[in-house]
Amino acid sequence: MTEQRKSIHGTWSSKWTFILAATGSAVGLGNIWKFPYMAGDNGGGAFVLVYLACIVVIGIPIMIGEIMIGRRGRSSPANTMRFLAAEANTTKAWTMLGATGALAGLLILSFYSVAAGWAMAYVFSGFQETSAQAVSGNFEEFLADPVSLIFWHSLFIVITVIIVARGILKGLEAWINTLMPMLFLIIILLCIYAMQTGAFMEGLVYLFKPDFTKINSDVLLAALGQAFFTLSLGMGAIMAYGAYMPANQNILKTAFVVAALDTGVALLAGIAIFPIVFANGLAPTEGPGLVFVTLPIAFGNMPFGVFFGTLFFILLSIAAISSSISLIEPGVAWFVESLKTKRSYAAITLGAFAWSIGVFSALSFNLMSDFKIFGMNFFEFTDFITNQIMLPLGGIFIAIFVGWVMKKQNVLEELQIKEGFIFNVWFFLLRFIAPVLVGLVLVYFFI
Ligand code: PFF
Repeated sequence: MTEQRKSIHGTWSSKWTFILAATGSAVGLGNIWKFPYMAGDNGGGAFVLVYLACIVVIGIPIMIGEIMIGRRGRSSPANTMRFLAAEANTTKAWTMLGATGALAGLLILSFYSVAAGWAMAYVFSGFQETSAQAVSGNFEEFLADPVSLIFWHSLFIVITVIIVARGILKGLEAWINTLMPMLFLIIILLCIYAMQTGAFMEGLVYLFKPDFTKINSDVLLAALGQAFFTLSLGMGAIMAYGAYMPANQNILKTAFVVAALDTGVALLAGIAIFPIVFANGLAPTEGPGLVFVTLPIAFGNMPFGVFFGTLFFILLSIAAISSSISLIEPGVAWFVESLKTKRSYAAITLGAFAWSIGVFSALSFNLMSDFKIFGMNFFEFTDFITNQIMLPLGGIFIAIFVGWVMKKQNVLEELQIKEGFIFNVWFFLLRFIAPVLVGLVLVYFFI
């Protein structure tokens, strides 16, 4: 079994590669597009505080667990779970965790790709408008056009499929090495722009001063779901990448680095966006269009705005691609191992599946806008079911598996640490705090 597991995947040549790949998966639309509008929809500071607490107390411990499972199993999440369940002498039903995770990834990809399509379309938007009204009008007009939305959605899926078909190891390294730092620099530039909008303090207060009366079960679940989504947890993406991690890499340190980079990017995006919101009389509750109606105003007004705006949306699209490949990878790796299909066949089939569901998300902004499920349009509904239900549930099961099912000595062996203070804190968070808190939030929400 060990021999076979070794032969399924190679390992990445350097320790840096795992960090790049995991950061590439984590940093994406979730940070720059979703975090700001979720914060805006859920009352600002209170949401941000709960979100940060979820990252530290639940997200990082589960990330450590997920990477550890992935590296020990050394194959696709579904087969990894099967292998580790056998190692722990327990039921094969754990394979389902990998399988439902792969499904969650495809469902997320279906609407992620629609939003990524917006980012790609904005590369060509020209950034000539300077007023909130004109910029908002452009975005609304764009959403009303089903043909454009489906075109960009299709293009994004095709690019994702091509990269995944060729094998994710090729190319990923070079991209993230140079392009991610560039994206980071433009976000800093936007923060500098935000400082002189006249509403910088107002933006900061909104983002960081919690109004505790705003916390309710919706806000708790939204912040929890966002923590899972932004760190790519609960569905096997990080587990799939863990399979390629060199055996001597320190999992704990790595998880901290990835989570810190990811959180840093999200907070900076918020710091850049909210001052623009307030300075231009926009509402924080703008919803999914928030970045698309704020940042173009900044680019329209700043020197060399066309250059920076175009570059920003190119880099955002690439950040989305480095996330989308991790959304489809758990399914593709599983197809390749278990059905012995070619990577290209697996990528095309699963890409087509995600694409076809995504078409409904694209149409939910225009032709199908009246079609509601529990009061949500199709885009919102897929987003809700995956991020706020499937990922947290996946997280509970991962925590239970590592904390209660795996043999402790195997956990210690894979993490390569001794049973001391750090291990005990982590193990406690994983065994008790994470599953109980996530469970409570879910139950509280449904009651
Ligand atoms: N973390 C990505 C983002 O913030 O854009 C989205 C994502 C990727 C979520 C992979 C889940 C996942 F498994």
